[in-house]
Amino acid sequence: MLKPPHNHHHNHHHLIFSLLILFIHLPFSISTTATADIAALKSLKTFIKPSSIPPSSCISTWDFSSDPCLTPKRTHFICGLTCSPDSTRVISITLDSVGYSGSLTPYISQLTQLVLLDLGQNSFHGTIPSSLSSLSLLQSLSLSYNSFTGPLPSSIGNLKSLQDLDLSNNLLSGSIPNTLFSLSHLTRLDLSFNKFSGTLPAKLPPNLHELAIKANSLSGTITKTSFTELTQLETVELSGNSFTGVLQSWLFQLPALQQINLSNNSFTGVEIWRVGKKLSSLVAVDLGFNKIEGYLPVNLSEYPVLASLSLRYNRLRGPIPLQYSKKSNLKRLFLDGNYLSGTPPAGFFTGVGEESPVIGSFGDNCLLRCPPKSELCLPLQKPMSVCKKVYGGKMPRRN
Ligand SMILES: *[C@@H]1O[C@H](CO)[C@@H](O)[C@H](O)[C@H]1NC(C)=O
Ligand SMILES: *[C@@H]1O[C@H](CO)[C@@H](O)[C@H](O)[C@H]1NC(C)=O
Ligand SMILES: *[C@@H]1O[C@H](CO)[C@@H](O)[C@H](O)[C@H]1NC(C)=O
Repeated sequence: MLKPPHNHHHNHHHLIFSLLILFIHLPFSISTTATADIAALKSLKTFIKPSSIPPSSCISTWDFSSDPCLTPKRTHFICGLTCSPDSTRVISITLDSVGYSGSLTPYISQLTQLVLLDLGQNSFHGTIPSSLSSLSLLQSLSLSYNSFTGPLPSSIGNLKSLQDLDLSNNLLSGSIPNTLFSLSHLTRLDLSFNKFSGTLPAKLPPNLHELAIKANSLSGTITKTSFTELTQLETVELSGNSFTGVLQSWLFQLPALQQINLSNNSFTGVEIWRVGKKLSSLVAVDLGFNKIEGYLPVNLSEYPVLASLSLRYNRLRGPIPLQYSKKSNLKRLFLDGNYLSGTPPAGFFTGVGEESPVIGSFGDNCLLRCPPKSELCLPLQKPMSVCKKVYGGKMPRRN
């Protein structure tokens, strides 16, 4: 037999429950940011020049007379940071891009629950504090488009959770630390537009999907050891450095590679083997503005999805391979500024209304009978005298 519900008890429970709900929702009662986090935020603000903090900016709302993680936010700490759900720890800092100027406080290291730090597109200067390495939960770090100087601290290798590192467009110098290799979760590395010198690290982080170190002062050769284990690498952007040597086939055969841009370096040769039955996802290859000698790499025409190829402004000779003209998915082909000879394959000029099926240029070479009506044949070929010199006195016969 069921007992009748005990009314008094029931109401009592209900009241306690309601109070509990009320208690959780009252902001002033429990939310308090960790003292170390408050100190770090204060220091972050103190290191920024007051005159570079506009009135309507995020940092201007960082008023420490109230608790940073307190919710709801009405007038204070309106933007620039987020806190853990229990309002005790700062978990992300994303500053607005309003031109904050100053250096980055070393006390940033006290924000040990930080997952995301983005100070991009401001005017921070000075060095990157090596204490950053205490942020062991940090997954994404962007200091791009600032004026940071000095080296990338080798302690960066301690940021074991890092997935995305963007330090592009600063004034960082010195060599790229080998400790980057220990960042086993790093999928994107962008160090472009800095002043890094020396060679590529002996071993790159193994899970990279995207490697970008454009426009720096790196030199030396591109060695296979740097790229071992990089089975997920999709994009390689190393243009605008001083790399030398002969590019070898393994590089173009990295299993996940889609785009590679090595333009504007000092490479002297390229060797590309047949892909055979291996899968290749390679879509775009840019080797323009180097010192590559020899013939056009005919084996590239076998790469199944290659759609864009530039070898412009090198020192290539010999004919344009017939295979290139038969490759129907090739849409962009820039071969201008070499010493290519012979007659370009007719297949390039069969498009409707004399338009070529590819865009690009064969100009500024030593080609014979490049149809002048075709855009592909602009600009004009080199003067005969230049070509004769290169080919040892006499022009090569047509192919
Ligand atoms: C080559 O790189 C240098 C240095 O990064 C840059 O100043 C120049 O404009 C680049 N040239 C081309 C053709 O991309
Ligand atoms: C390769 O990089 C250079 C320099 O950043 C750029 O000008 C060029 O367009 C890139 N090539 C391709 C195919 O995107
Ligand atoms: C094409 O690839 C094969 C190996 O697959 C190689 O023996 C040959 O030298 C390559 N041809 C050129 C012109 O590089």
